[in-house]
Amino acid sequence: ESSTEIDISKIQPGQAIKAVFRKQPVFVRNLTPTEIAEAKKVDVGSLRDPQSLDDRTKPGKANWLITMGVCTHLGCVPLGAGEGEVKGEFGGYFCPCHGSSYDTAARIRKGPAPKNLEVPPYEFTSDTVVKIG
Ligand code: FES
Repeated sequence: ESSTEIDISKIQPGQAIKAVFRKQPVFVRNLTPTEIAEAKKVDVGSLRDPQSLDDRTKPGKANWLITMGVCTHLGCVPLGAGEGEVKGEFGGYFCPCHGSSYDTAARIRKGPAPKNLEVPPYEFTSDTVVKIG
């Protein structure tokens, strides 16, 4: 299977970029300390798809949130990676197709999507490169 290598050295805190993995969009987001704190203060048990930020990131790299950019409702590409302030009311991503809002850990918080944005398999091959797949 093909994998995708992404240079993350230019992604600033608070910024998310869109890349392509297996012909689908993937989002790579450098969370700010505030966004990390927002994600961590949520009661995981209250979530539709209960996962902590730590469940969705690598140890020691909680700022790097890497998810598919595919809404788990019907597959639209959510906004919030490269669209400036369009992040929806929970500060992560917003799917304009039917109004699903994802939080700063890309967990579904409101709207019809059943699951969090999927975290693909990935690894850091250096401090500045992540290999997806
Ligand atoms: Fe995203 Fe329906 S496809 S809310």
